[in-house]
Amino acid sequence: MTTTILRIDASARGDASVTRALNNNVLDRLAAGSEIEVNHRDLSTALPQITPTWVEANFADPDARTKAQTDALELSDQLIAEVQGADVLVIGMPIYNFGVPATLKTWIDQISRAGVTFRYTDTGPVGLLEGKRAIVSVASGGTKVGSEMDFATGYLRHILGFLGITDVQFIAADNLARDSEGSLAAARTDVSALPLAA
Ligand SMILES: Cc1cc2nc3c(=O)[nH]c(=O)nc-3n(C[C@H](O)[C@H](O)[C@H](O)COP(=O)(O)O)c2cc1C
Repeated sequence: MTTTILRIDASARGDASVTRALNNNVLDRLAAGSEIEVNHRDLSTALPQITPTWVEANFADPDARTKAQTDALELSDQLIAEVQGADVLVIGMPIYNFGVPATLKTWIDQISRAGVTFRYTDTGPVGLLEGKRAIVSVASGGTKVGSEMDFATGYLRHILGFLGITDVQFIAADNLARDSEGSLAAARTDVSALPLAA
């Protein structure tokens, strides 16, 4: 069986990027367990932010949307389809200014839509992107993952869970400024221990 992977890179850096390198390692690890097909969404060329027309369109009855409203949601529809079509999300997330990169936040804004990726019920919101796994490669100069200065990983775990993706694992290289080699080696050890099954 082929595992379909959506790879998302949020680093503004190219070949020097630690999260891109770790994402490569994660893909190699997953390829050892099954055939994989990888779709790539590179966020370094920033996505457009949501606009007033986008918001109106999102809350309009889908059957009553104007052409402008339908057009405003076209990219969002495509980004959501990429997630819906994936068994596993492999996300590269540098910590920028103690939080998630703005490009990744824009991707989240684009894919979080009531009635499409989550819905409201009498007992609270329910995520609709179920049955998926996410593996997140995180890099930081010194902001320790899980520390009180880390506003990135807790937020990402929360929003993915809100959308129905509750199986989330973080691979962290979070001491790069002080011990780049040791930090990378620890992260690569964690990659090699990732469960293979999707
Ligand atoms: C704009 C920017 C903001 C950053 N903010 C932080 C930060 O808040 N805490 C930290 O420890 N490192 C910070 N760093 C360092 C990066 O997290 C680190 O360089 C990491 O390797 C970036 O991931 P990448 O190698 O995949 O690009 C920042 C880097 C940049 C470019």
